[in-house]
Amino acid sequence: MAKQSLWQRIKSFFKRLFKHPIKTLKWTLIRLYAKLRKGGKRLILIFVIVWLIFASPTIVGYLLYFLTKNAWHLTYANAWFGFWMFAPGTPMLPLCAVIAIAINTTISKIFKVKSRKAAVAGYAPDARSTKPAIGIFGGTFDPPHNSHVELVRRATVKLGLSKTLVIPNGDAPHKLFETDKMHRLAMTELAFADLPVKVSLDEVLREGKSYTADTVKELAEKYSKYELILILGGDSLLSFDNWYHPEEIARYVSFAVAVRGGSIRDKIREIKKKYNAIVYELEPVAAISSTEIRMAVEMGIDKSDCVNPKVYRYIERNKLYSKYSELCEKLRWYLDEERYMHTYYVVLKGIEYAEALGEDRDSVIRACLLHDCAKQIAENESGCYKAYEKKVRHAFVGADLAKKEFGVNDEAILDAIRYHTTGRANMSRLEQIVYLADITERTRGLFAVDIVRTYEAQGFNEAFRFAVEKSWDYLNENMDKKDICALSKEAYDFYCKDEI
Ligand SMILES: [Fe+2]
Ligand SMILES: [Fe+2]
Repeated sequence: MAKQSLWQRIKSFFKRLFKHPIKTLKWTLIRLYAKLRKGGKRLILIFVIVWLIFASPTIVGYLLYFLTKNAWHLTYANAWFGFWMFAPGTPMLPLCAVIAIAINTTISKIFKVKSRKAAVAGYAPDARSTKPAIGIFGGTFDPPHNSHVELVRRATVKLGLSKTLVIPNGDAPHKLFETDKMHRLAMTELAFADLPVKVSLDEVLREGKSYTADTVKELAEKYSKYELILILGGDSLLSFDNWYHPEEIARYVSFAVAVRGGSIRDKIREIKKKYNAIVYELEPVAAISSTEIRMAVEMGIDKSDCVNPKVYRYIERNKLYSKYSELCEKLRWYLDEERYMHTYYVVLKGIEYAEALGEDRDSVIRACLLHDCAKQIAENESGCYKAYEKKVRHAFVGADLAKKEFGVNDEAILDAIRYHTTGRANMSRLEQIVYLADITERTRGLFAVDIVRTYEAQGFNEAFRFAVEKSWDYLNENMDKKDICALSKEAYDFYCKDEI
């Protein structure tokens, strides 16, 4: 492996330190912290043993002085680093720490080599070039979950990778990150601790936007004797043409792609032809998304089986993903378990639409969280909304409840809650998102299937229009005309009779 020598590593560390002093020190501390968490107990034990070895002459000296009161022993003990060994902040303690870290790293390496050999043993790597190969796996890792780890494990085993560079994104061009890079990096270190990977700082330290094309070009220069294999979940490949300079990427790397479904196979064929790319296929991994995990943590829904237990503890300890926790705790008082889970899935759909349309995610999340907040209390409503049909009443009561009990003052959010069941003419984008998310969340079943298909094939506007039309048909088939809310008619006339 074209590994940097210790001297080169020290040089590049100081170069980086000179260029970005605060960032480099911060990341060094974080990496140290993550490493301590990985093998912490063993490291502390080694540190204590090293320290005891250095301190033993001093300790024996003091012990003898205590037993014999012979001043010579005291002199001897003091002479043997008496002060240096015990006082915190003296050079001996960092020296012991450095020796302990070196011993610990050596032990880790010996064990990892064994486990890597065991992991690959019995599997014949796929036919590929005879060059040794290194995997590249980038991502937000907010948080890293089991499917990320499984994908890298499969690529390592199937393609006989020497190692994989796991690269947490810095400021990615496509996404707005909310979690500090520091936490994402620490979680990534923990999640991949059992695989032959190196968590790379290349993108998190880079100023400005990071593009895969730049990263792979740099890596190709650094690892010129290796085949570089970019590991991807199949869905990422579908948008490959929209990446920054895809042809550059395909020039420098091969691809290892988890194949789920025919559309990805078609895309692989297209990419092979268009970019003359080498693509290795991997078995698909479970479909888990980091958004699902983040939102589950926010809402207090247990998803601990989707992430490494150490990562989960890290999330809990650092109170990550707790922006909406207070609101969600309160929301639980108002909803039964089934309605609460429906709300969770509506939020996920809402986020999906918000990201696709570039809408403000915070407003969408708040509106989706509270859209059904009055579902259970509206049944007994005797106030001004009593005249509304039971099924739509909760939306109007909910908007009032969101304002009074949840402190929502944003009229746009309140309107999205108020009109999520009936719709109305000329809805805002936020209102449309909540309306459609409520209808298409994943547990809705048959009613949602063709609307979801319309969204995938023709986009949001057409799916929304179709949802309004389908809801109108449903109302006419299942309700007395006199009970249908005038707002539903207004929405149908506006979106299904007129042009959008
Ligand atoms: Fe509702
Ligand atoms: Fe709902």
